[in-house]
Amino acid sequence: MAERIDVAALIASARENARESHFGHMNPAFAKLVELIGVDRSYVRGEGQYLWDAQGNRILDCLAGYGALALGRAHPVVVDAISQCLTLAPPAWVRWELNPLAAEAARRLKLQCGGGVDRVFFTNSGTEAVEAAIKFARQHTGRPGLLAWSDSFHGLTCGALSINGNEDLRRGFGPLLPGAAIIEFGDLEALERALSSRTVAAVVVEPVQGKTLRSLAPGVLREAHALCKRYGTLLIADEIQTGAGRTGAFLAVHHDGVEPEIVVMAKALSGGFVPVGAVLVRSDVWDSTFSSMDRSVVHSSTFHEGPLAMVALIATLEVIVEDKLAARAAELGELLMRRLRAECAGIGSVREIRGKGLMIGIDLDTARIPSFANVPLLGRFTEPMIGQAAIMELLEAHSILAQTTGARRPLLKFMPPLVVNEADVEAIATATAATCRALGAGRFYGAMRSVAGNMVRSGLGLSPA
Ligand SMILES: Cc1ncc(COP(=O)(O)O)c(C=O)c1O
Repeated sequence: MAERIDVAALIASARENARESHFGHMNPAFAKLVELIGVDRSYVRGEGQYLWDAQGNRILDCLAGYGALALGRAHPVVVDAISQCLTLAPPAWVRWELNPLAAEAARRLKLQCGGGVDRVFFTNSGTEAVEAAIKFARQHTGRPGLLAWSDSFHGLTCGALSINGNEDLRRGFGPLLPGAAIIEFGDLEALERALSSRTVAAVVVEPVQGKTLRSLAPGVLREAHALCKRYGTLLIADEIQTGAGRTGAFLAVHHDGVEPEIVVMAKALSGGFVPVGAVLVRSDVWDSTFSSMDRSVVHSSTFHEGPLAMVALIATLEVIVEDKLAARAAELGELLMRRLRAECAGIGSVREIRGKGLMIGIDLDTARIPSFANVPLLGRFTEPMIGQAAIMELLEAHSILAQTTGARRPLLKFMPPLVVNEADVEAIATATAATCRALGAGRFYGAMRSVAGNMVRSGLGLSPA
């Protein structure tokens, strides 16, 4: 007979064996990368915006699970709702029933999204939401084409990868979806040229790009949507990273007053506990796919609409709305931007600080940072190390966990939980300035050289996310 599992003991022994297990059973390339760049720590506790490591250090988490932890860790309202759900154990995945929790979750999510999106399809991830949106758009328009901006990121399954603006991520996985194309970010003339072929089902847009932290100039998204309408193309807003309050509005398209035909969300929707994504769709677009009883399950998924996911989503929405977290993201995001700009003024390694709400990036000027970044061939491998060196310093010297991303140049990215406070914001600003000053002074040159050397020898690239 199977015995009760002592989960605390399980976690402790798994932690002991993690290194060996990763190299033995999982992804040795990732394990090597994490070791090389020195970010692997043993995290033993998480609460709100903080993590604690085994040595008792408190770390401010500005990575937030790539944005999934908008409420921070272990939010009591979500923990309580999920615990109740586990105890009550409502029958899951009966399938031949009208799932009551899913319907309630859809009603509440629609209320926050507003605009013309009437119907909700739940998924288990962001990339699955993008895949569903592609199918809905193709079915509705009868066209194959898909467009996205350069440097875009919409997920890593084959459909989503077709509109990924990073050639490195696509290489070797083709042929991807026919009719998919990438156009230069914000180039409305190129957009119109492509749309005028009248073969494009949808344009897929991140209101703030996760890779570059760029957003379109005011009014450009609206113009792009008008062009889409003129040529019978749908606009899909990819709010997987920007949605649920992150940029200071529930949806980032709300800043522009744009009402896309399709909105995709995921990441923050469940408070970081249970995977959940959503596709919100205008009803006529929906009806094209689910056009009859015969075709009512023509798109579906075994695990979507699970009770834990639906309850976590409802609880998360409750916190976002009642605690006014979108307004908080706007206010603290503005403060962070102001403080970063003040602290980093005059630091040569900082090219630009940009973003929206609590989604902020520091674009580094690699030409002003002593490194191998400008050496032909070697630079391709070593330039990302500049960002990694900064991330290492932020963690080691300032106890801040952040991310390096970027499309053509490394960029430091801060996406803290929306529950951070003014003191956290101040800590991010001063630590970032100190780190960028040190980068410009070449303080990490030696570390970069040895890590870059290791990377070149082992033929590793850097994490895509
Ligand atoms: C804008 C955007 N779209 C899609 C995705 C893919 O989501 P997921 O990782 O849940 O598949 C991501 C993930 O980082 C994202 O940032």
